[in-house]
Amino acid sequence: METFGFLIHPMDIDDVARKYRIAKKINPKVVASIVKRRRPLVWSEITGIKSITGKEAVGWFIAVPFLPHQFFDLEEEYVIEKIVKACEIGRKEGARIIGLGAFTAIPGGGGRMVSELSSVPITTGNTYTVVTAIEGTIEAASRMQINLATSTLAIVGATGSIGSACAHSLADKVGEIILIGRDEDRLTKLSNSISTKNKQVTVSTSVASVRAADIIITVTGAADSVIEPTDIKSGAVVCDVARPRDVSEQVAKRRNDVLVIDGGIVKIPGNVRCDRDYGLPRGLALGCMAETMMLALEGRYENYTIGKDISLEKVDEMKHLADKHGFKLAGLRSFEKKLSDEHIAAILRNAKTKPSAMANS
Ligand SMILES: NC(=O)c1ccc[n+]([C@@H]2O[C@H](COP(=O)([O-])OP(=O)(O)OC[C@H]3O[C@@H](n4cnc5c(N)ncnc54)[C@H](OP(=O)(O)O)[C@@H]3O)[C@@H](O)[C@H]2O)c1
Repeated sequence: METFGFLIHPMDIDDVARKYRIAKKINPKVVASIVKRRRPLVWSEITGIKSITGKEAVGWFIAVPFLPHQFFDLEEEYVIEKIVKACEIGRKEGARIIGLGAFTAIPGGGGRMVSELSSVPITTGNTYTVVTAIEGTIEAASRMQINLATSTLAIVGATGSIGSACAHSLADKVGEIILIGRDEDRLTKLSNSISTKNKQVTVSTSVASVRAADIIITVTGAADSVIEPTDIKSGAVVCDVARPRDVSEQVAKRRNDVLVIDGGIVKIPGNVRCDRDYGLPRGLALGCMAETMMLALEGRYENYTIGKDISLEKVDEMKHLADKHGFKLAGLRSFEKKLSDEHIAAILRNAKTKPSAMANS
């Protein structure tokens, strides 16, 4: 039996309240200050993962008690120390590789410091996340009848680990690219590396620039949403890879003419069981969880995706491992719900009948 661990953390106070109900009744600042002092703990076991090759794996979700903003607001040393402790807890349970989920993958140079301090190998899972984000985006664009080759793609969080790999991978497939981030120098550097592919590439430090895009991949490390209902062109596709999500819940309520998909949701092979809620329906995983599972199934107990640069060779390797073990995209999902064909057809109709209007606003 192969083994792995995967680090998770609460996305908001509601997540904390699922374990400690009282959290809903007290001041959020008090909750945050209690959360940050808690020790990491084993959240649940996940069993029944069975590759189509016949190999099996078991894993443990380890909770790292920090709310999203605390990963940036607290001293880096304190944050890294708790992440490393969580890895150690995973190792003691039996994990031979640990995936760093959500914001646990961001501090200390994208897992680099954690990998240096941890006694068990680490992966951020970002490589397979890139694969699934791209596959989902291409499928969603096709369902919305967007011609990829002439489309304008915006990437929000373009200078990040996942964002820059998506930009490089999709540069040859789209008409124009808008790279959006916070640091103009880093955006320009990224743009120069993509412009050599003879593409029209523009950079922007304003998220509002997504209004020009037919397709948006959003993957920032922001603790709160960054894309609001008025930001999206009618008929556009938005792939929200970020956790916590980048697209405001208001978009789901007020825009029936845009297709927002959850990026990186994968069907795990086997008959998966988990006794606690890890934020997804049974049998589904985020791309980063799936990468950790695949490395375990391969017996590849080594540091894998570490640091901010994702190699395109590893992207190809992950595609190959997903095929080999039977991991695939779990259809299109939006705000945690499965999208039916009828729902997508209705979005397309709404976009065609109200091409420039903002539906329901
Ligand atoms: N769905 C999945 O399976 C999956 C898997 C792994 C990760 N994730 C999520 O993906 C996201 C990005 O991960 P990553 O490893 O690529 O992170 P990263 O390397 O730190 O990149 C984050 C990017 O977001 C930008 N950013 C940060 N805060 C921002 C804000 N407040 N407003 C606008 N832009 C902001 C950063 O800009 P600067 O360069 O200016 O800092 C950077 O370009 C996270 O939400 C993570 O949880 C999802």
